[in-house]
Amino acid sequence: GSMDPAIYFKEQFLDGDAWTNRWVESKHKSDFGKFVLSSGKFYGDLEKDKGLQTSQDARFYALSAKFEPFSNKGQTLVVQFTVKHEQNIDCGGGYVKLFPSGLDQKDMHGDSEYNIMFGPDICGPGTKKVHVIFNYKGKNVLINKDIRSKDDEFTHLYTLIVRPDNTYEVKIDNSQVESGSLEDDWDFLPPKKIKDPDAAKPEDWDERAKIDDPTDSKPEDWDKGGSGGEWKPRQIDNPDYKGTWIHPEIDNPEYSPDANIYAYDSFAVLGLDLWQVKSGTIFDNFLITNDEAYAEEFGNETWGVTKAAEKQMKDKQDEEQRLKLEHHHHHH
Ligand SMILES: *[C@@H]1O[C@H](CO)[C@@H](O)[C@H](O)[C@H]1NC(C)=O
Repeated sequence: GSMDPAIYFKEQFLDGDAWTNRWVESKHKSDFGKFVLSSGKFYGDLEKDKGLQTSQDARFYALSAKFEPFSNKGQTLVVQFTVKHEQNIDCGGGYVKLFPSGLDQKDMHGDSEYNIMFGPDICGPGTKKVHVIFNYKGKNVLINKDIRSKDDEFTHLYTLIVRPDNTYEVKIDNSQVESGSLEDDWDFLPPKKIKDPDAAKPEDWDERAKIDDPTDSKPEDWDKGGSGGEWKPRQIDNPDYKGTWIHPEIDNPEYSPDANIYAYDSFAVLGLDLWQVKSGTIFDNFLITNDEAYAEEFGNETWGVTKAAEKQMKDKQDEEQRLKLEHHHHHH
């Protein structure tokens, strides 16, 4: 756009341990898992790729950072971050939650009310999806579409865009994977049309396309036990056939449009509130802004510039491992 982007939250973990002053551990439970600052076993850039890594297996994690509260009314909202499941994740969350102001960060937990939950969630081969959940009038409403998450060991960029015309877009690695209208793809509102409760199928409505031919009769020499099998009359077109009865629809009196589905009074905290079986996921490059182009550029400048070197390092490690195993094999 022509205006400077509003950057509500940006976190790249480029200042050593200082992140511990910006992120708050919840004390709701005493055994939440620890996040550590790390770029992991392989990376594109040792410093730039440092992010928050889950470090203990089979734990709940609950960490959050606050920012100056804002409302997205009349504006686009973009939520973006990178996730790297370098541990080859079996089951665990890779999503963020955006909370309204008023959240007690020290008490954040799984039931704390949020506005939006967004990002990948993997559990076994059956669940590999990207959640997009909106709190609408106190209820968490899940997207009706199935968005597949990445399940490899590399860093991926996840972006959610919510616009004031009630449209949305989900991008992975700066490519659109889903888009549409909020009203169509979530069940926020009751349906526009319902079946007319006063209409019923007339009793004499004949839905049978074919009927037995009344002039046909079983031959006298019909041999049931023989190759003919059970005798069945010939089928003819039903002269009274009226087609399938279609229940007429009327406007649903419960329905009223809402032009502000997308809008929240306040956003104030970004939280990582998730469960992981095998730890090792790294979260990085968090961004909340009102500018789609800026977010794309920021994605290019972070994930975009380190992804190739990350892949190279991983490939090299895999090759070294392969040679080591081969060597081992030859000597025994
Ligand atoms: C981001 O990178 C892609 C691929 O190189 C490019 O096509 C796109 O224009 C870039 N976006 C921005 C906003 O710089």
